[in-house]
Amino acid sequence: MKQILVTGGNGQLGSEIKKLAEKYPELKLLFTDLDLDITRQDDVKNWLEEHPVQYIINCAAYTAVDKAENDFDTAMHVNGMAPGILATEAIRHNARLIHISTDYVFDGTSSQPYLESDCVNPRSKYGQSKLKGEQAILEADPSAIIIRTSWLYSSVGNNFVKTIRKYGSERGQLRVVYDQTGGPTYAADLALVLLDIVSLPSPEGGIYHYANEGVISWYDFAQEICRLSNITCHIEPIRTGEYPLPAPRPGYSVFDKSKIKTTFGITIPWWRDSLARCITILNEQK
Ligand SMILES: NC(=O)c1ccc[n+]([C@@H]2O[C@H](COP(=O)([O-])OP(=O)(O)OC[C@H]3O[C@@H](n4cnc5c(N)ncnc54)[C@H](OP(=O)(O)O)[C@@H]3O)[C@@H](O)[C@H]2O)c1
Repeated sequence: MKQILVTGGNGQLGSEIKKLAEKYPELKLLFTDLDLDITRQDDVKNWLEEHPVQYIINCAAYTAVDKAENDFDTAMHVNGMAPGILATEAIRHNARLIHISTDYVFDGTSSQPYLESDCVNPRSKYGQSKLKGEQAILEADPSAIIIRTSWLYSSVGNNFVKTIRKYGSERGQLRVVYDQTGGPTYAADLALVLLDIVSLPSPEGGIYHYANEGVISWYDFAQEICRLSNITCHIEPIRTGEYPLPAPRPGYSVFDKSKIKTTFGITIPWWRDSLARCITILNEQK
């Protein structure tokens, strides 16, 4: 039986992996969160000595994008330095690392879907810290697997879907940017891919892009969230400049996902179908 450490197990992605555990009886999934601080190398080393694992799936991260602008040290510690610790300790303990990164490593000025090999140029502190994490991993272990994802949401935790549902029903009108385009990712879909990858005999290392299929703006996303949630809300499309935030966002963060699809033979669900599945769960929670 393969034993796997999932760090950040209480976050959106970690929680979705937890939900899938019983569908993978051949995998023994061990979840940690702040009880195993990934920035503390000795703790990681001791944990791995006590629990031999074949894989580490790193879902732990500092994800407060705007806060990172003024708290760069913490973001760098968790997103930039700790992934290098995990990669080093994974090698020392004969485990493979699968790490999650982000579209924020790109500046968003492209007009064509981003390939894994495209130039990175993060504009935000969060993006810089996540890029540093990728680099630290590849320095320690070029065979690690890094999956960049975008616009992650889940029925668990805080995210755009839940925010729109809350404010859409409370206020009845919202302003949402229509000049940032990308691809939403339902964390449950990504969780499935991660467990499929660790189930393979010898998955190929490298950087991969994963989001749900389709390209939309945040405005389109908000409209569909309200429609599927039966929330009557007037949504006004606005430009990014009309809703200033501390951290700059990539204007265009569409991924080319050919590599992950061909390498691992996966089919990616369309964003609207995945959103509908998530909203069904959220409606049941009411
Ligand atoms: N959310 C997005 O839109 C998005 C988009 C693209 C990529 N990603 C990436 O996808 C991955 C998963 O994101 P997510 O949304 O599932 O994140 P999340 O919900 O914020 O979960 C991250 C978890 O890691 C924990 N954590 C923070 N610092 C830690 C540390 N030093 N040691 C151990 N655990 C720590 C957090 O605890 P606390 O909550 O208590 O701090 C939280 O439970 C991350 O790598 C993220 O960068 C996310």
